[in-house]
Amino acid sequence: MKVGVLISGRGSNLKSLLDACAAANFPAKVVTVVSNRPGAGGLDFAKAAGIAAETVDHKAFADRGAFEAAVTAVLEDAGVELLCLAGFMRVLSPGFVRRWQGRMINIHPSLLPQFPGLDTHAQALAAGVKLHGCSVHYVTEELDVGPIIGQAAVPVLPGDDPATLAARVLKAEHRLYPACLRLIAEGKVGLTDGKATVSGPLDDSLQIFNPPADG
Ligand code: GRF
Repeated sequence: MKVGVLISGRGSNLKSLLDACAAANFPAKVVTVVSNRPGAGGLDFAKAAGIAAETVDHKAFADRGAFEAAVTAVLEDAGVELLCLAGFMRVLSPGFVRRWQGRMINIHPSLLPQFPGLDTHAQALAAGVKLHGCSVHYVTEELDVGPIIGQAAVPVLPGDDPATLAARVLKAEHRLYPACLRLIAEGKVGLTDGKATVSGPLDDSLQIFNPPADG
C-alpha cells in the first residue's frame, strides 16, 4: 500500500512509520512526505530514508483551496493510496476530507473522545484522569471525532507535568501508528455504521490498571 504522510514539524511519528515500512515484510511503504512548514524537522527523516519530501508552504497560497490543490497534486503524482497525518497542523477543508474519505488517518494524543483539540496532556492533568494515551482514527470533517482504529493507554503518574506525560504518550504513539497502518494495509480494518472494525488476533485479556488493582 502506497502511503503519503503530511507533517508540520518534528516528525517523530513520521519516523516511526518510515522505520516500520523499512522492514522487508511490512505491507506498506511511504512514497511521499509533504510538509506545510519549510524547515520542518521531519523532512530530514524523509530525506535520510531516501523518500521524496516536499514543502508545500500554505503561506504561499491565496487560500486553503489552492494550498490543498497543490498538496493533492503531489499526493496523486506519487500514487498515494492512504494518507497519514502525523502532526499536521492545518485544518483540512470538507472537500479535501471527502476526497480522502476512508483513506486518511490521523494520530491524536489522547484517548478519544476525551480531550479533542490542542494541549491534550494539560487537559488530561486538569481532568485528573489516571489513564491517558493516544488514538489512531479515520479523518472526518469534524476535528478529532472520526472512527477510532486503535488506541494505546499509559498511566498518569504522580508528579507528571504536561511534558513528562507527553513523552510517555509519544512512546506509545510510535508503536500504535505503525501497528494501525499494518492492520489497514493487511485489509483488517473495515468501516461499518461510522465505526472502524478491526479483525485479527484480538481478545479481552488486555486490562490496564492505574493504580494496580491486586496489591
Ligand atoms: C504528536 O503528539 C501527534 O499525536 C500529534 O502531534 C504530535 C506530532 O509529533 N498529532 P511528531 O511531529 O510526530 O513528533
